[in-house]
Order: sequence, then structure tokens, then C-alpha cells
Amino acid sequence: MRLMRSLVAGCALLFGMHAIASAQSDLTGYWKYAVPNGGVNYLELKQSGSEIFVSGRSGMSQKSCGTLHGDKLHLEIPSAFGRPDPKRFITYDATVNGDKFPATRKDRDGELTSGTIERVPREEAHPARLPLPELRDLTDNGLARTPPMGWNSWNKYHDKFDDATVRAMADAMVSSGMSKVGYNTIVVDEGWSSYRDKDEKITGNARFPDMKALADYVHSKGLKIGIYSSPGPQVCGGYQGSYGHEEEDAKTFAEWGYDYLKYDWCSAFGIYQATPADLEGAYQKMGEALQKTGRPIVYSLCEYGLGDVWKWGAKTGGNLWRTTFDISDNWESMEKNGFSQLDITRYPQAGHWNDPDMLEVGNGGMTGEEYRTHMSLWALLRAPLIAGNDLRQMSDETKSILMNTDVIAIDQDSAAKPVEVQWVEGKSEVLVRPLEGDAVAVGLFNRGNQASQIGFRWDSLHLAAFLGGKTLEATDLWKHEPVKVEGDSFTAVVPRHGVVLLRVSAVQFGFR
Ligand code: GLA
Repeated sequence: MRLMRSLVAGCALLFGMHAIASAQSDLTGYWKYAVPNGGVNYLELKQSGSEIFVSGRSGMSQKSCGTLHGDKLHLEIPSAFGRPDPKRFITYDATVNGDKFPATRKDRDGELTSGTIERVPREEAHPARLPLPELRDLTDNGLARTPPMGWNSWNKYHDKFDDATVRAMADAMVSSGMSKVGYNTIVVDEGWSSYRDKDEKITGNARFPDMKALADYVHSKGLKIGIYSSPGPQVCGGYQGSYGHEEEDAKTFAEWGYDYLKYDWCSAFGIYQATPADLEGAYQKMGEALQKTGRPIVYSLCEYGLGDVWKWGAKTGGNLWRTTFDISDNWESMEKNGFSQLDITRYPQAGHWNDPDMLEVGNGGMTGEEYRTHMSLWALLRAPLIAGNDLRQMSDETKSILMNTDVIAIDQDSAAKPVEVQWVEGKSEVLVRPLEGDAVAVGLFNRGNQASQIGFRWDSLHLAAFLGGKTLEATDLWKHEPVKVEGDSFTAVVPRHGVVLLRVSAVQFGFR
């Protein structure tokens, strides 16, 4: 009750107090907004006078409010998943007329669609829960022995992209040189699916008329291709998900030739509990379906780190799993996602990776220093390197970050040893990760707003044990130049939000 009252107060503050109730309608109940050949969004409304409270399927405690003045309905729903952004709302506007009426929806990118709002039975908005499999350990599919590398449509385009965009990104992945340095998979995120056909088969929407032809095209470029779905009935933006169709969809994706599935929890919040057991069961269900197809398909779990996925993700057949809420193209978001990983670095292993979300490098919201920090941190964490920018239009700086082969080599290094925080003081940190051979990567990070002098002692790098007959050699991986190994320690002035990333190795005397 107290929660309800504070939400009421929140909505009243947002929209102003409207003491006079709209007399004629009570919108309390379940509704769907549908666009022809588009997505479906279910809304649970509770009306109190002229105030409307909205709960969606997201299960997140976001304040979603609306008003009904006379017959004019206006709803505002915070848009950012998991991390509401007060400035960005999805809005619905309609003139209420009975239980079915035309409406417009403005999505988080400001795009307007026209559709219909219609009252639906509770069972349609909240389908009954189907049984989950008994939990067991699936066999390792042998894929993703190093952290996956590729491109995904979401960070740059949200669902505003089409078949041609994906083909263009495949072309650009090759022509820019990215495929030569390890990026090999193009992932089609939210926005490709439509309703099921008469045989219940999932289909592409008008912007994705032939998902098989798209896969064939991407393969013809020597690349792999990924697709996106959800254990819930809809993906986050309302397009079709795989709930109750897991086996058929896995089979369809395999028949079309897809090599990678990103499986996003989204509307599964409305079906299952977000407990480790339900999460694991739902992901295992699709993991089994994928393995049954016989096609090698990298399995990417996207559940925002819920239920400590790093403890059970591998059992579901998962090759990578999201450990955080969505990244945005700004320092605070990237810093939060990246540095929050340092407590769980012992979980990634060959074939099974922590995923603090995709790269924002090149999207324009951060400085070059900040993007170098992003890339360095992801590499030290052994995180998947999934670019999220327009690969056709990369500045030289963006290319130099995404295609820094020395930094990529750290990400892909096969030494199964986690990065460790060697030293922290205020906003300065030194992170060290052992690499193959007698080598380590050292990142000097300045998370503060002023330039800061940061250093470490050479003998603290755990290479000392190998020093009989050897000496140290160090390279600055962003300046691409050798660093003098002299004295007891190394220090550098690191710019605000910046990084100095070194590779230090022990080499035999006489071989330098
Ligand atoms: C969630 C995921 C994102 C993206 C969107 C698509 O927010 O975490 O990575 O897939 O859904 O709606």
C-alpha cells in the first residue's frame, strides 16, 4: 500500500494534481497495442481518477504513469531497460472509445507509429507458465574458445535498421579490415521478427523479408551471423519471442543458417520468476533446443546478470552471459558496467564468458580517452568484443581503437588467469592480468576528473620468479612504443578517464 501511495504521489507530481476523475471510462485491466506487421506491446493499466498507472512485462520497478482527461489518454513509460533515463519515455496517445481504438506510440528514439489499443483477457497478456526442464548440465558445445568478437545492431540502431543495413555492415566489416583482426560475427538484434505464420513458424518482418538469404549473404563474406530472441513471448520492444516455441525456433534459426543466438529475458519476467532456478531452466530449455539442431550455434544469454548467471550460465550451454544492465554511450554507464566486473573475474573460462555488454566505441558519446579505457578494460576482463557502431563511417581514431591488435591480443590471450586489482587509491587503479608466456598486461586507469600520476613497482608484477637470466621488456599498447624498464617502478601521468596499457614480458638476456 505504501508503495502504491508513493507511486501515486510520483505520478501526481509528474502530471500535476487532477482532482476531477474522468467520469466515463475505467481503463483498469489488460490492453495490447498492435501495429500491422509490427510488434505487440501489452500494458497493464490501473486507473485511479484521472491518473493511470502502467505496469509492463519488464518486471522492473519503473514509475510509469499516465492520465485520462475526458477521453484523451496519455501514457508515459520510462524507456531505458533496467536503468531508467528520466529524459526518455515511450508515450502512447489515444482518444478512448470503448475497448478498441486507434492510438499512436512514440518509441524511445522518437519514432511515431500508428496502431490500435485493444482490451485483452489477462491470459493473453500473461500467458500461463509452461513447465521448465529439470535442471542438468548440458555438454559444452566447444564454441567460443576465446571471447566472441563481432558487431551487433542494437547500440547504434536500436530497431531502426533493415536487411540492407546488416548487409552493409558485413561488407564494412571486411572492407575496414575488422575481419582481419578477429571480428567475425554480425548479430541482428531486436527488430527483425514479426508474427508467426499459419504454421506457427517465426517470420521476419517487412524490413527483413528473407532471413535465410541474409544469412547466406553474410556467410558469402566469410563471416558468421547471429539472431536474437527471448524466452518470453515478446522481445523487449514487442517483437515476437520464442516462448512455447523454443524447439521450432531453434530449428528455424538452424535451417536459416544462423551461427549465434542472443536470447534476451525481456517479457519472460511476466512468465517466470527471476530466480536462479527459473532463469537457469528457461535458458537450459533453449540451450537443449539449440543442441538438438546439431548446428554449432554460439549461445549468448542476456539476462542483465540476474541470478548470478556466472555461476550457472555454462550449464545451460551458454557461451557468454550478460553480467550487467544495458550499457549506454557515456562514461558513467561504461565505467559502471566495466569496473563492476572485477569481483567476478574468476568465472570466465574458455567457451564461457562474462559479458558486461557491447562496445560503444565510435558512437560519439565519449572521448577518445574514454573509449580507449572502454576497450582496454574489456580486453583485460576477457569480455566479448562486440562493436556497436556504424562500421561504414569510422574515424581514424575509432579504427585505431577497435583494431588495435595488441589490445585485442590481450582480450583473446588464452592464459586462463583472471585480471586482478593490484592497487587502488581514490579514483586510480592498477589492474594486472597474467598472459601466455612470461608476460602480463598492466592497465593504469584514472577514473577521476583530473589527470593523475599512477605507477607500480616492476617487481610487483609476479614476473620476478622468472627473472633468473632474464630481463623485462615493456610496450605501451596505445602509443605503440617501447617503455624503458629502469629503476624500481614505472609511473605515468594518466589523463582524466584515461588509461595507460602496457604489456610487460620477461625475455632472455641477449634476445632483446
Ligand atoms: C535489452 C538488451 C539489449 C538489447 C535490447 C533490445 O535491453 O539488454 O542488449 O538487446 O534489449 O530491446
